[in-house]
Amino acid sequence: MVVSSEAGAGANTPVGVDPNRASVARMYDYILGGKDHYQVDRDEVERLRRVMPEVADLALENRRYLIRVCRFLAERAGIDQYLDCGSGLPTTENVHQVVQRVEKLAKVVYVDNDPVVVAHGRALLEENDRTRFVAGDIFEPKSILDHEVVREHLDWTRPMALLFVATLHHFKGDRHRPAEIMREYVDALPSGSYVAISHLFDPGEGADHETMAAFQEAVARGSLGGATARTEEEIRELLPGLEPVEPGVALLADWWPDGPNLKPLNAAQRLIAGVVARKP
Ligand SMILES: C[S@@+](CC[C@H](N)C(=O)[O-])C[C@H]1O[C@@H](n2cnc3c(N)ncnc32)[C@H](O)[C@@H]1O
Repeated sequence: MVVSSEAGAGANTPVGVDPNRASVARMYDYILGGKDHYQVDRDEVERLRRVMPEVADLALENRRYLIRVCRFLAERAGIDQYLDCGSGLPTTENVHQVVQRVEKLAKVVYVDNDPVVVAHGRALLEENDRTRFVAGDIFEPKSILDHEVVREHLDWTRPMALLFVATLHHFKGDRHRPAEIMREYVDALPSGSYVAISHLFDPGEGADHETMAAFQEAVARGSLGGATARTEEEIRELLPGLEPVEPGVALLADWWPDGPNLKPLNAAQRLIAGVVARKP
């Protein structure tokens, strides 16, 4: 089992971890109050905080959205099987806990390729016989769709939910490739399935656009090596042929919040958006 290190990565560091490079899974864990992060991750979050002081709200708002989406899918859409691509480290509320509270028999397959998530997450995320963890690259759709656990644990003749929450903006390479990747997944989904995504948002102009540009530049200079924000139209292109559920592409804070947003949204909250859509 991985043991977190206050000083940095140490003797219990899992194979494959470069102690000198931050990882998005561990940075996210740091922000969410977990304990699987190293000094390099904390330093990277603090460096980004100097560019966007509310940076933690990107992760906090995202996790709240993921939980609301899962509740919606389980309670309102009646979905009882989930493929969570880029699960992250286990935290207080994980997908299987949210959906199995609604439907005890709901099945979940988690996928991630971060070595700490692989080492640590498997034990905690595979909490019962309805949940599985697969170590794999979500940007290689065929390898995930053909994986025997993904094929056998989920029933591909019935609707399911595909979750790509805070993952697609981490793709490095051709800007158009994520839309192709999503098409491959969507083509494989049974009719009546849902896809939920969240993504760094670029409003295209104005002060928030400038803030996002500065943020992306800062991420590119660090050990994550880049993150790509998308406009509303580009986010819509990630869901080819799907019917968006109301309110369509929205800031995460505005996607069916638990109550009215009484405080003005800060810069980070204005720069992360999401959408849930159904395959007809
Ligand atoms: C910001 S976290 C989001 C975690 C979770 N989806 C959520 O929204 O709370 C992004 C996760 O995607 C994972 N990830 C990034 N690229 C990946 C890839 N190519 N294959 C599998 N997982 C990946 C990271 O390891 C990390 O755990």
